[in-house]
Amino acid sequence: MRAHLTACFPASRRLPYVIRVVVLASGTGSLTQALLDAEASGALQARIVAVGTDRPAPVERLAQTARRATFQLPPADFPSRADWDVAMAQAVSLFNPALVVSAGFMRVLGPGFLDRWGRVTINTHPALLPAFPGAHAVRDALAAGVTVTGCTVHRMTLQMDAGPILAQTRVPVEDGDDEASLHERIKAAERTQLVDVINQIADGAIVLA
Ligand code: GRF
Repeated sequence: MRAHLTACFPASRRLPYVIRVVVLASGTGSLTQALLDAEASGALQARIVAVGTDRPAPVERLAQTARRATFQLPPADFPSRADWDVAMAQAVSLFNPALVVSAGFMRVLGPGFLDRWGRVTINTHPALLPAFPGAHAVRDALAAGVTVTGCTVHRMTLQMDAGPILAQTRVPVEDGDDEASLHERIKAAERTQLVDVINQIADGAIVLA
């Protein structure tokens, strides 16, 4: 179908594909805000249809301010992690997304989620994977004394921070950097990279097979 449309309409006459995206996040939500801003300016070929959290978090307020649906599912509200995984999968299903973006979602998603959504779930991580996986990637990179770190977007799989890599951006470590200053520069790179990857997925330039 896409080939047929491409043949019928020259590139100059084609409207960009816009895909439905659910964002999962746990924190301040600056990446989510960047996606909302990019959407508002027409730079993102996606509509953020919902933002899901695993805890009360400032990102919920951002999403609500932008008049987006939110859902909050703390694991402690469920009898087991397996039940929580399934509940997350069901919550995402309500919004029928083409893509799920984990943007600072500080929980591992298990089989009950990934069996349903893993094929179209991507994660952004603040290091050049496979270096420095885990929750303290920026701190670990500084402690290791690297001169260059960065960020990675990868497909989410059962093994944390280990799915196929879709994009990476290098960020130099500067003299005097602490965890906060380095993370802020990495997040600036993550914002740009994430928009770019989502657009490439929307365009079919990246295929999540
Ligand atoms: C990002 O660096 C993301 O890669 C990491 O958490 C950060 C989220 O930042 N896992 P924010 O909450 O969107 O500001």
